[in-house]
Amino acid sequence: MKREGAHKVREPRRPPTPAHPSLAIVHASELLTLRGPRGPRIREAMSDLGIVEDGAVYIEGSRIVDVGPSAEVLRRHPRAGRTIDASGKIVLPGFVDAHTHAVFAGSREHELEWKAQGLTYTEIANRGGGILHTVRATREADEATLAGLASDRLATMIAHGTTTAEVKSGYGLRTADELKILQAASSAGRASGVTVVPTFLGAHAVPPEFEGRADAYADLVASESIDAVVSSRAASFCDVFLEPGYFDPPQARRVLQKAATVGLGLKIHADELSDSGGASLAAELRATSADHLLHVSAAGVDALATAGVIGVLLPATSLASRLPYADGRRLVDAGVPVALGTDFNPNCWCESMQLAIALACHHNGLLPAQAITAATINSAYAVGRGDTTGSLEAGKAADVLVCDAPAHQHLGYRLGGNLVGTVVRGGRIIETRALTK
Ligand code: NIG
Ligand code: FE
Repeated sequence: MKREGAHKVREPRRPPTPAHPSLAIVHASELLTLRGPRGPRIREAMSDLGIVEDGAVYIEGSRIVDVGPSAEVLRRHPRAGRTIDASGKIVLPGFVDAHTHAVFAGSREHELEWKAQGLTYTEIANRGGGILHTVRATREADEATLAGLASDRLATMIAHGTTTAEVKSGYGLRTADELKILQAASSAGRASGVTVVPTFLGAHAVPPEFEGRADAYADLVASESIDAVVSSRAASFCDVFLEPGYFDPPQARRVLQKAATVGLGLKIHADELSDSGGASLAAELRATSADHLLHVSAAGVDALATAGVIGVLLPATSLASRLPYADGRRLVDAGVPVALGTDFNPNCWCESMQLAIALACHHNGLLPAQAITAATINSAYAVGRGDTTGSLEAGKAADVLVCDAPAHQHLGYRLGGNLVGTVVRGGRIIETRALTK
């Protein structure tokens, strides 16, 4: 058994091979290009995976150079340094996990017994569980310990096909501890090979020393903490948990308006446990994404669609906390660009975007193609990386998966396993079977 505290940032278990000068992946039964116009996909475009049968992708260094039918790509690039035969397999962009809380110390397996007894997320928090339990353990851990723990989790994510992950802070709730977490997230990304997009979530809960003084804590987040995050360039986004018992709309607005003025992108944990106005605030502030949306109102859905805010669905949280599933079909029909994440956190220990895709198909009402769009190009836009990853197009990062399945529907259909056999991240080949065995 691994002991906490014994962790240090370390190299991945099996370092990826050096980037080949050139790499061809050929004869995919379905090459899911996800090609299309710039921007997140909505409505019918969410069902268009840009499939090329008997497709190939040709890579030089860390970039995609050519994509198309195998015969044409092989004719244009007959001499790749290395060739992978993907006959009978699907090839697609690496998954982008749009929402994780991957940096924390400790764990909360004891809460599973409470869940099994029927306690709700709020009841568990009131018993001393939940976010503040993890805050205690995380404040005590040093940066190297946190980076080691997070790097192990990201290594499991990449073995399941995640090549880019958004990673939030939020278990420090003090400026120095929040910075420590963000820096650990970046180191963990370098050690694991996953591209990490760090998000500052200082307004995740009111810390014990501010109990009953949420306004004062929100003001601290909106001044000292954000200033420190920006001056150390520690995050790309700022997020707030908008929910009764956590932060209300005026507090969330103050934090996010300050974040916008200093150039951070905006995200909101919106309408997760109740309809608390998160979607409307996300639309008002032109946030990049509104996440969860289990209880979003009709007006909230329309506001998201009109403002072009990406709705990030996190069905593993509904599974882990016995919450309703967000109505993804309604969001797609209304014209909201829908993305997907695992919401990996100590309440919802899910490293697999494949499980998120399967849950999205079985419970959020997304078609398999829509769920794959949500997990790739739309998630890439949800983390501000849509121009560099999320689809197989010339010029983009060579983040590519080869999956042991003949057709894309298998991704949502098969539950709880790992279809990803080979991951190419920035042109480097990672054999996931070697990582997981
Ligand atoms: O996205 N809702 C707030 N944050 C997390 C849960 C964090 C925790 O329970 O530790 C979420 O579900
Ligand atoms: Fe979350």
